Amino acid sequence: MNNDFERVLLSAKEIEKITEKLAQQITEDYNGKDLLVIGLLKGSFVFISDLVRHIDLPCKLDFMSVSSYGSSTSSSGNVKILMDCSLPIDNANVLIVEDIIDSGNTLSYIVDYIYRKGASDVKICTLLNKPKRRETHVDIQYEGTTIDDNFVAGYGMDYNETYRNIPYIGILKKEIYS
Ligand code: IMP
Ligand code: MG
Repeated sequence: MNNDFERVLLSAKEIEKITEKLAQQITEDYNGKDLLVIGLLKGSFVFISDLVRHIDLPCKLDFMSVSSYGSSTSSSGNVKILMDCSLPIDNANVLIVEDIIDSGNTLSYIVDYIYRKGASDVKICTLLNKPKRRETHVDIQYEGTTIDDNFVAGYGMDYNETYRNIPYIGILKKEIYS
């Protein structure tokens, strides 16, 4: 285990199981429908690549890059779109893929934004959910697992742009970010 972690929260095997289950549910729900999967960069890049390979349907894939960090470990309501998606969204069934939902500020803004761009349906798939930290309500249709109020990293998620390449998810030691 990386020494900056207090402990492993989810092993690569556990993440794989969760991801396969989510993909199976998505495959059933979108059967016969067009599907546009939009990943939020950078945090979701590992999760989305595993998830879509288990979605057994034709689907389109796009990315957006958003930032909303107020301080180093919590987001603000100020969501900035650093890179917009490029495929047409008009009348699309959009599935937004996110690594973790914390305050909910980012996702509630993005869902609204994608509806305003003309999507006919917008749903959310997140690997992790930290409901204790919620400030803005978001409807989550596909959730991997709920976690406590700890700062986690790995499997795409970072602290200060580090740890994204670690294949499991760990709880970061408080001394690393405080
Ligand atoms: P929200 O707007 O507060 O819901 O923030 C969502 C974004 O904050 C996520 O997409 C992550 O990129 C980041 N984030 C929130 N909690 C964590 C964490 O524990 N570790 C790493 N990134 C996090
Ligand atoms: Mg993110």
